[in-house]
Amino acid sequence: MNDKIAVIGAGMMGGAIIKSLIKGNYGGKITAVDVVPKKLQELQTLGIEVSSDNHSAAKDADIIFLVVKPGDVGKVLKELAQEIKGKLLISVAATIPLSFLCKNASEAKIARIMPNLCALVQASYTAYCCSENVTPQDKEKIKILLDMMGVCEEVDEKYMDAITAVSGSGPGYMSIIVEALTYAGLKVGLPRNIALKAAAQTVMGTGKLIVELNEDPAKIKDMTTTPGGTTIEAIYQIEQSQIRPAMIRAIEEATKKSQLIREKLSLA
Ligand SMILES: NC(=O)c1ccc[n+]([C@@H]2O[C@H](COP(=O)([O-])OP(=O)(O)OC[C@H]3O[C@@H](n4cnc5c(N)ncnc54)[C@H](OP(=O)(O)O)[C@@H]3O)[C@@H](O)[C@H]2O)c1
Repeated sequence: MNDKIAVIGAGMMGGAIIKSLIKGNYGGKITAVDVVPKKLQELQTLGIEVSSDNHSAAKDADIIFLVVKPGDVGKVLKELAQEIKGKLLISVAATIPLSFLCKNASEAKIARIMPNLCALVQASYTAYCCSENVTPQDKEKIKILLDMMGVCEEVDEKYMDAITAVSGSGPGYMSIIVEALTYAGLKVGLPRNIALKAAAQTVMGTGKLIVELNEDPAKIKDMTTTPGGTTIEAIYQIEQSQIRPAMIRAIEEATKKSQLIREKLSLA
């Protein structure tokens, strides 16, 4: 696959997507566009074309990733109405529904995706849904691109707010867990570098165990717990900390926030 790609908005997520495509040895030209020149500097050193001109980058491209903040999506689509006609537009913006994208880019073929920052190391979970005019061939291309970012799956759009809350923002919560585990290591006398490495690798490895063995987390928990041992001692304390309801409340509120942002942007 060697379609020309333009990434409009080369911030945190746009940069991560570009780096995943580079790591995936993507065969086509990639152009990064941003209004902030500093955001483009590092990408330029990686051999990526950079530009501050949305119009010419979108005109030259076959596939356009839209990676600006939700509030900027409408404005950018208006600007690029001519250039994106008939092309594949992949919107990464949280909360922005296909209905809004289709209304404002009626002649484009549109995918709405929700990756996470783990795309930076090709370990994103990316959910996607598509407008009706996206062909099976387009979907194959979308899948090839998203597979370079990690794993992907097509979902019903009604799940996108919840997925944004669970996995889109997920690296933020998992970092709190790693941080807490690191602090715990410090408390029991581990040097900081050892505590951090042990904590991060354990979180990563546990995810891998669950995914690669297709195992229930409860089973993994049981597999680490011997009668009268150290793990059950810690689990007894964790279960008193209300970590489960805290996580459930957090995700529920984050999901509601997506709906609120959409209402605020008058897109609901
Ligand atoms: N960060 C994540 O973990 C994550 C995860 C999943 C989805 N997303 C989605 O990805 C999108 C981008 O998020 P982000 O965190 O990467 O934000 P970000 O770091 O602020 O990146 C967006 C970039 O786009 C630039 N921009 C604004 N208007 C533009 C225009 N007209 N043309 C070209 N560039 C323009 C911004 O410049 P200014 O700073 O001057 O506005 C900024 O540099 C959001 O819609 C978000 O919902 C993010």
